Amino acid sequence: MPEPSEVQRGLQDVVALESRICFIDGRQGRLIYQGYDIRDLAARSTFEEVAYLLWYGRLPTAIELSELRSRLGALRALPAPLAERIDGMPIDTHPMDILRTAVSTLALFEPDEAKPGASSIRGAQRLTAVLPSILGQFHRRRTGMPPLEARPELSPAAYLIYALVDREPTELETRAVDVALILHADHELNASTFAARVTASTLSDLYSAVTSAIGTLKGPLHGGAAERVMELLDEIGTVPRTAEVVRDKLVRRERIMGFGHRVYRVEDPRATILREWSRKLGEAKGELHYYELLRQLETVVYKEKGLYPNVDLYSGSVYSLLGIAHDLFTPIFASSRVAGWTAHVLEEYQDLRLIRPTAKYIGAVDLPYVPVGERS
Ligand code: COA
Repeated sequence: MPEPSEVQRGLQDVVALESRICFIDGRQGRLIYQGYDIRDLAARSTFEEVAYLLWYGRLPTAIELSELRSRLGALRALPAPLAERIDGMPIDTHPMDILRTAVSTLALFEPDEAKPGASSIRGAQRLTAVLPSILGQFHRRRTGMPPLEARPELSPAAYLIYALVDREPTELETRAVDVALILHADHELNASTFAARVTASTLSDLYSAVTSAIGTLKGPLHGGAAERVMELLDEIGTVPRTAEVVRDKLVRRERIMGFGHRVYRVEDPRATILREWSRKLGEAKGELHYYELLRQLETVVYKEKGLYPNVDLYSGSVYSLLGIAHDLFTPIFASSRVAGWTAHVLEEYQDLRLIRPTAKYIGAVDLPYVPVGERS
């Protein structure tokens, strides 16, 4: 047996498993899904095509893509008892908590998919189809919008906009969300995907794995950053105040959300693409306030700390321009990443080995046991 190696805090640079799904070149700033560069996918494909690619390892033919579209549309409706339960959840709950609880609850109504060891393409497609419906069911009630309909004819991107802002989006708006979904669909062994794989590696089921992943994505160091970027922009308010606000935060050793990355040593390629979409959408709407603040924030953070933007820096500005509430940003991230989570769980099942690392013990040993009544 190999000797335990030195501790890598946060498992940084530890190679935990082999995967064919996603490759990140942190030095060159490249992101590859199943062999395809993210820049090509973002320019030319759709989220459904990318989900197919992640699940099946190849791009679909036109017929396969059209079948997948119909299937995702057909799998969108929530079971009535789940919709009723969501309606009974407190309206001041964060939508990430609603999503986590609803996916876990959905498993009770789809027991075949939730048996130990259960994992199927159908389950992956069901979860990918249903996450936006869960969000729409909750968000429309808390804001008094008309009840959600399944609208199977809409693409996942158009459906998200319909579900969350209750209007027919323009082509540009739909494409902006579609690109955001493509860019968030997978990212190798990020924390939530690792959590999903750990859960699956115990022979648990796909729905449990996705529940673990949602709980992990929720944290501000992972998926929760985009929401906090918008809070920061509101705090900054105007371009000339940017440097002062950033410096104050850095002096207090606070993190500037939307910057830095565990793997990328250069700009996150997803940030490059979303920056363009933030500008394009801002120009179309005559509303460049966020874009201009973000550009200045990039300049200041690079000057002060040498940090590059990550995917979360610009995504919030794109969603905000569509009128999407800030607390829905991380859930939208989940609605895309679920394609990657489920692809990884399917892969995990093909070559399953319980994921169980080891710890370097730094506690005491051989302490004399003192009975409870004699302890001081
Ligand atoms: N703001 C300020 N300082 C940052 C920073 C940020 N966003 N990201 C990293 N740093 C600093 C750290 O304080 C640390 O400085 P120090 O050596 O002086 O203490 C150094 O850079 C290395 O940071 P470390 O925490 O070791 O890097 P990591 O790989 O663990 O962190 C993140 C990666 C993503 C957790 C980190 O960059 C971060 O917290 N970013 C903000 C949250 C965010 O945008 N998350 C979305 C990721 S896609």
